[in-house]
Amino acid sequence: MILVTGGAGYIGSHTCVELINAGHKVVIVDNFCNSDPSVVESIRDITGKDVVCVDADVRDKDKLLSVFKDYDISAVVHFAGHKAVGESVSKPLSYYQNNLDSTLTLCEVMDMQGVRTLIFSSSATVYDPSNDMPLVESATLGCTNPYGWTKLMNEQILRDLATANESWSIVSLRYFNPIGAHESGKIGERPSGIPNNLMPYITQVAAGVRDKLHVFGNDYPTADGTGVRDYIHVVDLAQGHVRALEYAQESRGAQSINLGSGTGCSVLQIIHAFEQATGITIPYVIDPRRPGDIAVCFADTSKAKQLLNWQTQLDINQMCEDAWRFESQS
Ligand code: NAD
Ligand code: WQD
Repeated sequence: MILVTGGAGYIGSHTCVELINAGHKVVIVDNFCNSDPSVVESIRDITGKDVVCVDADVRDKDKLLSVFKDYDISAVVHFAGHKAVGESVSKPLSYYQNNLDSTLTLCEVMDMQGVRTLIFSSSATVYDPSNDMPLVESATLGCTNPYGWTKLMNEQILRDLATANESWSIVSLRYFNPIGAHESGKIGERPSGIPNNLMPYITQVAAGVRDKLHVFGNDYPTADGTGVRDYIHVVDLAQGHVRALEYAQESRGAQSINLGSGTGCSVLQIIHAFEQATGITIPYVIDPRRPGDIAVCFADTSKAKQLLNWQTQLDINQMCEDAWRFESQS
């Protein structure tokens, strides 16, 4: 069985579906601090298979140990953590506490139980903003906020662990900008409060929850002046985890691998793609740049192609259609 921490969350739930579709059995550990237990039922609905879910904090060592004793776990995909960049600036201790302690406790318990295959959710935010594009895994690392540092520190801890004991096999996946939802419309991204990220904001404008989108800057050195990012369909991303797991089961050591589409798309291109895919007009205004944003960010994806035999299949149109289906059905 595969243990999926944070499996009720946005990326975790899609990954559970793809793991089950690939024939794996899944146990979720989630404390629902940023998700709803009903997501587990949706995973069962989509796959037609049972999913075990334990309501627990990954930092609770005794409870985690009991999960390893109750189920025959062979590998772990570790999503559990806090993820809001802005909140991490105002609540650094909470971010360092949750994101580091969860990994330390998890790895300690895994080691005790002799389970040493781990896929970790990292982020493109570990790259220093001064790098040239596209970002290769060997680019300079460095962060601008506590959330990013927790990812970089986690990667370092995992590298050190693999150096200390060569039976560990660890893949840190550096995600670019995951958007979209499962084609069923039953699972997707459900941010609490005002969305920080572009696509959830757009879908809420389309649904009439917000009156207009604020485009953060149109004076960047890009083709249309708005920020360019590497958007990746969450189902492609989820399938990347299945491949990474298969790779990790066959290898040893620690690797960091980008998961992105390899191409950049501007804010205006996303707005227009969404309008085309859904037939809904998105009113927007141009606001000043958002502090901390960079002009362009996209991945070099050759390492994922080479090691995982994986690349994205789903385009921006599909990402917009699926994001809207989820928003409009919920
Ligand atoms: P999410 O908040 O939807 O999912 C995280 C899940 O972990 C939630 O269900 C939450 O309840 C759970 N959780 C958090 N702390 C926990 C703890 N201590 N014990 C048990 N459960 C806990 O976030 P997501 O977007 O699905 O992201 C998943 C992972 O991917 C995170 O580690 C995030 O930092 C990383 N990531 C996300 C993005 C993105 O844009 N969404 C980009 C790069 C990396
Ligand atoms: C995308 C583009 C904005 C909202 C963040 C994290 C990163 C990773 C993914 C976790 C930018 C513009 C946005 C809005 C806008 N998460 N924008 N109006 O900032 O690339 O990445 O999420 O690891 O760490 O920083 O994603 O979706 O916030 O922004 O104009 O209301 O959309 O300026 O150009 P970002 P985003």
